Amino acid sequence: MPRAIIAPSVLASDFGQLTAECQRMIKNGAEWLHMDVMDGHFVPNITMGAPILTCVHKGVPEIFMDCHMMVSEPEKWVDDIANAGGALYCFHYEATSDPISLIHTIHQRGMRAGIAISPDTPSTAITDEIGNAADMLLVMTVYPGLGGQKFLDRCVPKVAQLRARFPDKDIEVDGGVGPKTIGVCAEAGSNVIVAGTAIFGADNPEQVISTLKSAVNT
Ligand code: DX5
Ligand code: ZN
Repeated sequence: MPRAIIAPSVLASDFGQLTAECQRMIKNGAEWLHMDVMDGHFVPNITMGAPILTCVHKGVPEIFMDCHMMVSEPEKWVDDIANAGGALYCFHYEATSDPISLIHTIHQRGMRAGIAISPDTPSTAITDEIGNAADMLLVMTVYPGLGGQKFLDRCVPKVAQLRARFPDKDIEVDGGVGPKTIGVCAEAGSNVIVAGTAIFGADNPEQVISTLKSAVNT
């Protein structure tokens, strides 16, 4: 299995102090930051877009920006996110009719490509062709659109199904993940762990990051 990566979701941070919040996470051991881009159309909320990512990249250039694109036309934002310093562009399977060509476009712009499946999308939506072309597969463990939701256990078998088919891929889980739910995620084979509330809301984020990391590594 690929190595463990913990990606704090900045959705749970204080947006008024975004750069400082990101620097705080680096100090606490994060290598990736999970940036939730929402367009108010694919999901009901609006969060941030390329201009804000550009500022974060300027403030913390060393961080790997894992951009989770909860948007209706993911083809539209590849250039902007690449120019903003995005390292990984993860779009939703449900939002595009041609995932393969989108993956190629993302690669052409020098980013890693991820594909996300929402709770009602089966793991079989990720065909061998899609899975082999993508760099990361994201199994949502809540309905996209809001931080702080309850982890949906019923999504976990999809992680195991994808891990069995793609032993060397990064497989990410996102939504309601924290010290209480990491066990099942790690056991099923996810190695990229997104956590918002559990990390930003903790008294000791460093400890939470290290707990999540060791759960994946064991
Ligand atoms: C939900 C977002 C998640 C969310 C995770 O739509 O994609 O990244 O911020 O937050 P928690 O860990 O609080 O569920
Ligand atoms: Zn996310």
